[in-house]
Amino acid sequence: MMKKAFELNINHVRSFISEDQIQKLSSSVKEKLEMVHQKSGPGSDFLGWVNLPSFITEQDFEKIEQAATGMQKKTEAVVVIGIGGSYLGAKAVIEALSHGFISRSSGRKYPEIYFAGNNISEDYLSELMDVLEGKEYGLVVISKSGTTTEPAIAFRILKDHLEKKVGKTEAGKRIIAITDAHKGALRSLADREGYETFVIPDDVGGRYSVLTPVGLVPIAIAGFNIRTLVEGAREMEEKTSAEHGLDDNPSALYAAVRYLLYRSGKKVEILVNYHHKLHFFAEWWKQLFGESEGKDGKGIFPAAVDFTTDLHSMGQYIQQGERILFETVISVKHPERTLKIPEDPANLDKLNYLAGKRIDEVNKMAELGTLLAHVDGGVPNLKISLERLDEMCLGQLVYFFEKACAVSGYLLGINPFDQPGVEAYKHNMFALLGKPGFEKETEKIRKNL
Ligand code: PA5
Repeated sequence: MMKKAFELNINHVRSFISEDQIQKLSSSVKEKLEMVHQKSGPGSDFLGWVNLPSFITEQDFEKIEQAATGMQKKTEAVVVIGIGGSYLGAKAVIEALSHGFISRSSGRKYPEIYFAGNNISEDYLSELMDVLEGKEYGLVVISKSGTTTEPAIAFRILKDHLEKKVGKTEAGKRIIAITDAHKGALRSLADREGYETFVIPDDVGGRYSVLTPVGLVPIAIAGFNIRTLVEGAREMEEKTSAEHGLDDNPSALYAAVRYLLYRSGKKVEILVNYHHKLHFFAEWWKQLFGESEGKDGKGIFPAAVDFTTDLHSMGQYIQQGERILFETVISVKHPERTLKIPEDPANLDKLNYLAGKRIDEVNKMAELGTLLAHVDGGVPNLKISLERLDEMCLGQLVYFFEKACAVSGYLLGINPFDQPGVEAYKHNMFALLGKPGFEKETEKIRKNL
């Protein structure tokens, strides 16, 4: 029994796919789930995340918490440098758990968390340095390969900035590097400079790494409970194990349903939230599914919307545009706060029919009304219900999607753990920038331009 209820409701896909279709897929899903657990499918070298939650030890937690406390004591702000899987998990969890307006750094208990190295904008980095100028800050640089251009540039600049501000010795004490155990430029640099380091396991790819130090170190520095996050993931690890069949395994069921929808022509999945704090969770999810599935000319395109905001923009397309969409709604049962709509004797805005109701009741009716309208409009809906937005529920959700993504990828017949397509832009960029070793490509591109 899970400590906090997690529910996947597929009632609103039933007019699009039948129970019979789902049941017929059952043995294939079981086989794919076993492939994940037995490490017998494509990309099996990257299945370290499967048992990660239950393998994290007390010493692992203690080392992370010690480093986090050290950083909290020394700094008012911490810049987390990384891109893709080395950034989105931490960003997603921190955003989901943080106050929407008040920085956790007020009161100086926890440092403010900034992110860098996830773009190559000159203005972004310059403006970030404007903010850092007046602050005591530290850096967490994350790169599994240790050679990714975006974070490498950001780290070179911010390291230099920090060293000029506080001196090389003190800067060295405020830098944490999270990278491969042995290889890559970041590993060599960290060893040479004597930074505190954490290792990204060889068998965990970037987009599956949020429960490694990649996600846990920044989340702990931000002051959130990484033990509870991992506990939620552990519960889901158990709930989605190979022993649980389709009827009793939310990840397997989600993978099966979205695969059947895909085969029926629903090529785009929209992850819907009614809580703006989940915006970056959707960004993490987009990477997880987009990078895992989009290959060999296959894959569901992962999109995301924040409702009700986007009902006033994308809502039109979803209701009446191309019928290639389905939605997965993340519904949060209980908000953290209570706010009721007041009575107004003048009632000029005609809102007295809502007086005394909680805002969340209105939000829930918007959610239900939208679901019914979209289903009527030909958009199947899956609904994931979370008890609340806390560490435990986010841990459940992270692992639920990771497991589902692996099974889903195997159902599609692709390797969900590689990303060969991301190299194409890098080759062109290196050639255009004249990186040594790319001379032939440079010549070829120049001729084409
Ligand atoms: O999922 C992935 O593997 C990628 O998104 C990587 O995380 C991303 O490219 C960053 O790579 P690295 O951590 O090697 O800098």
